[in-house]
Amino acid sequence: MAKVHLRKITRDNLRECLALQVDDWQKCLVATTAQSLAEAYVNSNLFPFAVYEAFACGYEQPEVPMVGFTMYEIVAGVGFIMRLMIDRKHQRRGYGRATMLEVIRRLKLCPDIEQAKDVFPVAKRVLLTAYADTDAAIESINSARLDYYLLKPWDPPEERLYPVLDDLLDDWIAAFRPTL
Ligand SMILES: CC(C)(COP(=O)(O)OP(=O)(O)OC[C@H]1O[C@@H](n2cnc3c(N)ncnc32)[C@H](O)[C@@H]1OP(=O)(O)O)[C@@H](O)C(=O)NCCC(=O)NCCS
Repeated sequence: MAKVHLRKITRDNLRECLALQVDDWQKCLVATTAQSLAEAYVNSNLFPFAVYEAFACGYEQPEVPMVGFTMYEIVAGVGFIMRLMIDRKHQRRGYGRATMLEVIRRLKLCPDIEQAKDVFPVAKRVLLTAYADTDAAIESINSARLDYYLLKPWDPPEERLYPVLDDLLDDWIAAFRPTL
C-alpha cells in the first residue's frame, strides 16, 4: 500500500508545486495549487502541504518528485480537508487514498479537534466528494453519521449546495435549545 509524507511548501519546492497538474476533465473539480497557495497566504487557518512518497521522509531535500498537494483548514477546533490533488502522472497508484489517511491522522492528532467533538457533539456533517462511490457513501453515512452526501461539481451552488446547507441550518435551529 502506498504511503506518503507531507512537507511544507517552501522556496525550494514552490515551483514543483505550481507545476502539479490534473487531467483536463478534472480541472473543474479542484483549484490550482497557485490559487490554493494564494488563499493560504491570506488565511492563517489554512495549512497547505506537498505530498511525497514516504521515503522522502527524513531527508532535507526530497530526492523524489512531488506527487500531489493537499490543504486543510482548522476553524474553531474543527478540521476540514479543503484540497486534495494528485498529479496526473502519479494518479491511480494509491497516493490519493494514502494522503487522505495521513491528513485524517494529523487532524485527529490536533487536540482542538478532539475538543470540538465535546463542544459541538450535534454538529451537522456534510461530505462533499467528486466521485459517486455508493459503498463509500454508505460507510461514511454510518461511521461519521453524515447528514448529507453531495457530489461535485455542485455548481451552481445556489441550486445544489445552499439548499442542503439551508436544510441543515433549519434542522439545527429547530433543535437548538439555548442555555439560559
Ligand atoms: C481524486 C484523486 C486525488 C485520487 O488520487 P489517486 O492517487 O489517483 O487515487 P488512489 O490511487 O489512491 O485511488 C483511491 C481510490 O479512488 C479510485 N479512483 C481514483 N481515481 C478515480 C477516478 N478517476 N474514477 C473513479 N475512481 C477513481 C481508485 O480506484 C481507488 O479505489 P479502490 O481502492 O477502490 O480501487 C485524483 O484523481 C485527483 O487529484 N483528482 C483531481 C482532483 C480531485 O478531484 N480532487 C478531489 C476533490 S474533492
